[in-house]
Amino acid sequence: MNLKRFGVSLEEDLLATLDEIVKSERFPNRSQAIRFLVRQYESRKKWEANADVAGAIVLVYDHHKRSLSSQTTSLQHEYHCLVLAVQHIHLNEHNCIEIIAVRGRADRLIKLADKLKALKGVKSGQLMMTAMD
Ligand code: NI
Repeated sequence: MNLKRFGVSLEEDLLATLDEIVKSERFPNRSQAIRFLVRQYESRKKWEANADVAGAIVLVYDHHKRSLSSQTTSLQHEYHCLVLAVQHIHLNEHNCIEIIAVRGRADRLIKLADKLKALKGVKSGQLMMTAMD
């Protein structure tokens, strides 16, 4: 793809924020950070428009909550059209991590993730989504 150069004028505090992003995300330069931010904005717009997106739901939960594993499985069956694959890892004696690869309309993925996160015994739950084109 052709690269175009352009000049950017930014307030000092915004430039400082951009440089913080470069540093914290370990971008090699400001251009890479701007590229990332524009793509992130574009992705968010597509989610809002309910475009088809792919992503992952990552859950950490208490292994000792006996019914939890079957509850997460039931929800995944209920939303089977969205679930591509599941990886269950026994993190330690007490905790399991489940990585659920998903694909579908953003609003449906959000709904599934919210239901999973709301289960009692789920210690943390995150949904990552990305536009596919
Ligand atoms: Ni486990």
